Amino acid sequence: MKHGIFITFEGPEGSGKTTHSRLLRGFLRKKGYKVLHTREPGGTLISEKIRKILLDPKNKGMDVSCEMLLYMAARAQIVKQKILPALTQGKIVVCDRFTDATLAYQGYAGGMDLKVIENIAGIVTKGLKPDITFLLDIDARAGLLRTGRSKDRMERKSILYHNKVRNGYLSIAKKEPKRVRVVSSGGEITLAQEEIRKRVLKICR
Ligand code: TMP
Repeated sequence: MKHGIFITFEGPEGSGKTTHSRLLRGFLRKKGYKVLHTREPGGTLISEKIRKILLDPKNKGMDVSCEMLLYMAARAQIVKQKILPALTQGKIVVCDRFTDATLAYQGYAGGMDLKVIENIAGIVTKGLKPDITFLLDIDARAGLLRTGRSKDRMERKSILYHNKVRNGYLSIAKKEPKRVRVVSSGGEITLAQEEIRKRVLKICR
C-alpha cells in the first residue's frame, strides 16, 4: 500500500534538477515532512554500480537496448529497495529522474519503441508512477554549457540527440499535462522554486 507522495524531477542536461530537488527537500523537511531524496540511475549500492557503467565515457560503443535495459535494471533495484518502502511508510519521495528519462533519452532520442519501454517500466516499477513530475525545461545547448568540462558518456552525445531529448520531454508533458508540470529553468532559481513549492504543498495537504 502506498501512502506517501512520489515527486520526480526531469529535464535535459544542466536543467537544474539537482539544485531544485535539494531546495525542495530542505523546504519539506523544515515543514516536518519525512523525505527520501534520491536519484536515478543510482540510490542503492547496486544501482550506483550500474550508473558507473552507464556514464563511463569508455563505454562509448554501448548499444541503445543495452543502455535502456541497464537503466531499467538500476530502476528495478531502487524501486524495490528504497522507493516503495519509503512510500509505504508515508514518506515523500523526491527522485531526480525516473521512467520519463528512459522515454526521453532511449525512446524519443535513442529511437527505441516507446511502448516497449513503457512495458518494461511497468514490470520494473510494479506500475509505480510519480504523483507529480517537474520538467525543468531549458534549451539543450544552454543546458549542456552549464555542465562541467569533464563530460560523461551521455553528455558527450550530439546536440541533435540532446535536442530530441528536450522535445521528447515536452511531448510527454503534452500527453500528461496533469502529472507533468513544465517549469522554465532558464531564469531565476527562486522563481522556479517558488512555483514548485506551491504545487507540492497543494498535493501534500
Ligand atoms: P544525471 O544524474 O546527471 O541526470 O545523469 C544521468 C544521465 O543518465 C543523464 O544523462 C540522463 C541519463 N538517463 C537516461 O538516459 N535514461 C534514464 O532512464 C535515466 C534515469 C537517465
